[in-house]
Amino acid sequence: MRALITGAAGQLGTDLVALLGDQAHAYSHSELDISSDSAVARAFAETEPEVVINCAAFHNLDVCEREPANAFAINVEAVRRLAGQGVPLVHVSTNYVFDGRRPEPYGEDDLPAPRSIYAVSKLAGEYAALAYGRNALVVRTAGLYGLSGNASKGGNFVQRVLARVRAGSELSVVDDQRLQPTYTADLASAILEAIEAKAQGIIHLTAGGACSWWEFTRAIMSHAGLEVEVVRAKTVNAPGGVDRPLNGVLARPRADSLGLSPLRSWDEALADYIDTAGLARAPASQGPQPTDQAADPASRPRQLTDSTQ
Ligand SMILES: NC(=O)c1ccc[n+]([C@@H]2O[C@H](COP(=O)([O-])OP(=O)(O)OC[C@H]3O[C@@H](n4cnc5c(N)ncnc54)[C@H](OP(=O)(O)O)[C@@H]3O)[C@@H](O)[C@H]2O)c1
Repeated sequence: MRALITGAAGQLGTDLVALLGDQAHAYSHSELDISSDSAVARAFAETEPEVVINCAAFHNLDVCEREPANAFAINVEAVRRLAGQGVPLVHVSTNYVFDGRRPEPYGEDDLPAPRSIYAVSKLAGEYAALAYGRNALVVRTAGLYGLSGNASKGGNFVQRVLARVRAGSELSVVDDQRLQPTYTADLASAILEAIEAKAQGIIHLTAGGACSWWEFTRAIMSHAGLEVEVVRAKTVNAPGGVDRPLNGVLARPRADSLGLSPLRSWDEALADYIDTAGLARAPASQGPQPTDQAADPASRPRQLTDSTQ
């Protein structure tokens, strides 16, 4: 499978490239800006891919609210550009396409109701992939963390909470938003299995089980061998700010009906990640520095959650 990977230096892209080895034609942001017609055409001509896997996105939630034109340029128009190249497209989307108002998990056929610019743009990107792509596959996922971290946020959520604790800060994390935090190494394998199975349309691929951000944080501390109090907080949606779904849990009836393997549980994957990344042993000075809380409303002490989705 000769695969062109966009956003290849990101969390998911890095793991896909590692799994694909010499079948991967990896393009980082600096090597391929998917908002450029000519750059995209050149990359397709250079690689003649059999599949393109789009891992690039504009996905800082608060920045998307402030810069909707950029969100739509990367999350929608660029997806149409990739889909229109005549090569099967695998596009990665998000649980945020649902409003999270109901208690049950959301399956692939449930009606989306996005509640933020990011989520609206990702839903439109799904439609762009399916409308303009040949045999497109849309993979919705949630709460990603991976070995490459999340450069634009000073590390992923796991790295950031560990860095805060090691810097001596109090941890206060929301307990009313539920999700399936998903290790990108597991997601990358599941995506490749779906491609091999020639899956098309929309599928949900997330870790098994579900937890709140507070429960996730407690598990991070436990697997890292740290005894730390984690204060439970409640979600506060500021007027005009990002509306984060309370129930971000996805079901996968369609993925199951296609015979795709379930991902392992979020807790088992987290333990593996912390071990593989050496996070239990890393001294404080080697971790990423905490993000500037004042500049990141999503990470205010009373409402710590992730701000990229
Ligand atoms: N992270 C999550 O929790 C989460 C949850 C659900 C769904 N998703 C979706 O999963 C996918 C992968 O997420 P991830 O966590 O792996 O993200 P990531 O680590 O931030 O990687 C995304 C990559 O896209 C690159 N990029 C941004 N704009 C680009 C452009 N115009 N052209 C080419 N590359 C560009 C970024 O480069 P720079 O850093 O240089 O900008 C970054 O390397 C995205 O579609 C995201 O919406 C993520």
